[in-house]
Amino acid sequence: MAAPSSPNDPATDPSPGDLIAARPWLRHDPMAGLLVDGVPLAGIADAVGTPTWVYSAAVMRARYRSLASAMADAGLDMQVHYAVKANDCRAVLALFGAEGAGADVVSGGELLKARRAGVPASRIVFSGVGKSERELRLALSEDIGQINVESAEELSMLSSLADAVGRRARVALRINPDVDAGTNDKITTGRAEDKFGIAYADAAALYAHAAAMPGIEPVGLATHIGSQILALAPYRHAFARVAELVVVLREQGLRVTTVDCGGGLGIPYRNEPAPSPTGLAACMKAAFLGLDVRLAMEPGRWLVGPAGVLLASVVLIKQSPPERFIVLDAGMNELVRPAMYDAWHGIVPVSATDAIAAHSPASVVGPVCESGDTFARSRMLPPLAPKARVAILDAGAYGAVMSSTYNARPLAAEVWVDNERWSVIRDRQPIETLWERERLPE
Ligand code: LLP
Repeated sequence: MAAPSSPNDPATDPSPGDLIAARPWLRHDPMAGLLVDGVPLAGIADAVGTPTWVYSAAVMRARYRSLASAMADAGLDMQVHYAVKANDCRAVLALFGAEGAGADVVSGGELLKARRAGVPASRIVFSGVGKSERELRLALSEDIGQINVESAEELSMLSSLADAVGRRARVALRINPDVDAGTNDKITTGRAEDKFGIAYADAAALYAHAAAMPGIEPVGLATHIGSQILALAPYRHAFARVAELVVVLREQGLRVTTVDCGGGLGIPYRNEPAPSPTGLAACMKAAFLGLDVRLAMEPGRWLVGPAGVLLASVVLIKQSPPERFIVLDAGMNELVRPAMYDAWHGIVPVSATDAIAAHSPASVVGPVCESGDTFARSRMLPPLAPKARVAILDAGAYGAVMSSTYNARPLAAEVWVDNERWSVIRDRQPIETLWERERLPE
């Protein structure tokens, strides 16, 4: 009897055709090849070279709107703070800002970038386990909407800093609900053993303490359980625990006006079933609707992941029987997710002729000197001659932001597609800038 197929069994991989069919913004034109919102990727590659990130503004907008309407339809008073870490291009931040979103930032750099992209300070929330004094001072001087505090130590640091400048910081305590989100170990954030948040058992006492501290105005609670979450049960558990805490705090006479419901909805990289914003809204409604709290959420991946592709060219095909290696000009320094999380990304040929040629298994690798620089194994792909282009799908989140210049490879260009036109939103990094801030020692 055949062994049951595992989720990573190449035999169960969706074909390039299936992947495109499930993503209506992608289409294979018999002449122009793969199009993103009607724009041929081949034309972009001819003009700016590869590797290049290509983002669809329309997909980001549509996803934001469908998320916001799922929340509104459930009757939830919800402020969405886009998680800047997923894709921090100012074009992206400005797009969501214009839709009414705020920004969830985790560093002074993200805070400044969001401000420079026009996100109002009042709509910025600062999360993160290790905010430095300098970053907290910046948050205070910008008078951002809320700081999600992750420890008693951070709370006292913030209290003295705020008091010293005569401000009161609006603070939510980030609670660790001790819930396993069932996602990759490296991106689970809400188990007791994870570094994030305040232990559930300590939360009520710390909240009461915060209310008495100079420079601090506790406004509510926050929680975050992880990223790429593909089931709703972990949300239900986490939200129920937070809702319980809201009740306990109010019984003690403490004011709780807002709850930040974090935990990133997963996306179907492999066409796998994934929960919808409507399902998530129902979980929030079940936990919080009777409580009269303003809700917030901080999605990143769900909004931008599917909107981006990494466009790459084939350098050469290395035949090494039984293996066929398709060596690309993009590597793990561009998209680290496969190397770092064993993540699966769809890979589809760009040219129309390649798309209809017979497919056979290949390993798709980058040029970086590490065996981990492998995008896919046993992937069904056409012969693909040198210079042929491929698109690596769902690369809009945690792609360019996690790139490095490892192996002295400059950062790739980024391109924006909107209204059937495209423009460069970040130039390819000039090679000289790799050493321009170095000095040879005396
Ligand atoms: N808020 C907080 C406090 C977070 O820690 C995260 C993600 C988010 C919001 C956004 O979560 P999302 O909606 O994007 O799932 N580099 C990894 C993902 C790391 C996510 C860490 N925190 C990846 O490529 O899968």
